[in-house]
Amino acid sequence: HGTSRINKQGHLEIGGVDTVELASNFGTPLYVYDVALIRQRARGFKETFEKHGVKAQVAYASKAFSTIAMVQVVHEEGLSLDVVSGGELYTALAADFPKERIHFHGNNKSRAELEMAIKEDVGCIVVDNFYEIALLQEITEQYQKKMPVLLRLTPGIEAHTHDYILTGQEDSKFGFDLQNGQADEAVRLVQNSKGLELLGIHCHIGSQIFETTGFIMATQKLFAKMKEWKQRIEFVPQVLNLGGGFGIRYTEEDQPIPVSQYVEVIIEEVKKQSKQLEVEIPEIWIEPGRSLVGDAGTTLYSIGSRKHVPNVREYVAIDGGMNDNIRPALYQAKYEAVIANRMNDESDELVSIAGKCCESGDMLMWDVHLPKANPDDLLAMFCTGAYGYSMASHYNRLPKPAVVFVEDGEAQLVVKRETYEDIVKNDVKYKVTVKK
Ligand code: LLP
Repeated sequence: HGTSRINKQGHLEIGGVDTVELASNFGTPLYVYDVALIRQRARGFKETFEKHGVKAQVAYASKAFSTIAMVQVVHEEGLSLDVVSGGELYTALAADFPKERIHFHGNNKSRAELEMAIKEDVGCIVVDNFYEIALLQEITEQYQKKMPVLLRLTPGIEAHTHDYILTGQEDSKFGFDLQNGQADEAVRLVQNSKGLELLGIHCHIGSQIFETTGFIMATQKLFAKMKEWKQRIEFVPQVLNLGGGFGIRYTEEDQPIPVSQYVEVIIEEVKKQSKQLEVEIPEIWIEPGRSLVGDAGTTLYSIGSRKHVPNVREYVAIDGGMNDNIRPALYQAKYEAVIANRMNDESDELVSIAGKCCESGDMLMWDVHLPKANPDDLLAMFCTGAYGYSMASHYNRLPKPAVVFVEDGEAQLVVKRETYEDIVKNDVKYKVTVKK
């Protein structure tokens, strides 16, 4: 998919660059991003909104993969940016991302983070709770600023891939509950705050969602509340942000619909509901993370040791693992992989791919068919672009891998591989207290 293909040498090529060359030039493990595919996904979202003639903002949820280079591509493609921490905001600013298109999220933004956002004049803050409203009132007064905000609401719908849980009584750490008066109180407080301007409302129902039902249900719940507000307090949100969560294909078990279809369903429902309510169609904002970068990322690993457990399993180990991709260990996430230096090899072996971290749970793939792999062969694991690098850790003091962007036959290093010096750079020696 994307720009991936098999070249004359029988190697996997991405963005016109041979992955075997990438591995030898930049080392392994290596995160490789197909930039053309990111652009294609970004344009797909934008074009769908344009086609339907509705005002919209597509904000990339940078938690999926935030680096300066990624933020630059997001800017080039004219998207907005969702950040959830001072660190993600700092990355956006370091990439010269237009501040007015930054949306700041989070359920426990600190005073320092909110001050940073307000001083830098980000486009809007998605307010999560009453504590945050109070903090924002203080800070906007201190800096004499007016900050546009959205209120994050909890519509009582949770989507987990194919399942929707309707929770009458909300149980989520995020947002103001729709049912029990919290949302109404939040609207009242924000409307009465001198430093805050209530732009609209937000909800996010989950991640890796494969059906449109949840988005329709959420839109309906928000509009039911909007009807109340319109009648009681004459408040009509100008922006309706429906979050992210559009599912992608990791393995053949996953059968997502094209992302344009989610967007179309959302647009239609918002149009229909707006007509019923006799209000102008609000601006529709969405926040895709995974669906913009997930399948654009591939991780290259070198194969190392092996262990045969008679009649049970063949373990083949690679030079990375849960430190560069926690998703299999944390969510039992499944992936597909190939031997990138022998794409035409038709031999077949049933193996399980083990990471190199010191715990049994550090397995990247269980029982997959691959050509017979030898030490120093190159394993390419697909669809690691979202929540891979961004959730990487230093467990076992493994340096974080490098990140390379490939496009039009060129490869560019966008995050350097960490060194052992990087690993200890914040360590401070303890004064020696034990007397010899
Ligand atoms: N907006 C909000 C408010 C969110 O909380 C999220 C994701 C997104 C947008 C983007 O969702 P996406 O389009 O990427 O599904 N670490 C997990 C996923 C956590 C998602 C958290 N929130 C994983 O690796 O599957």
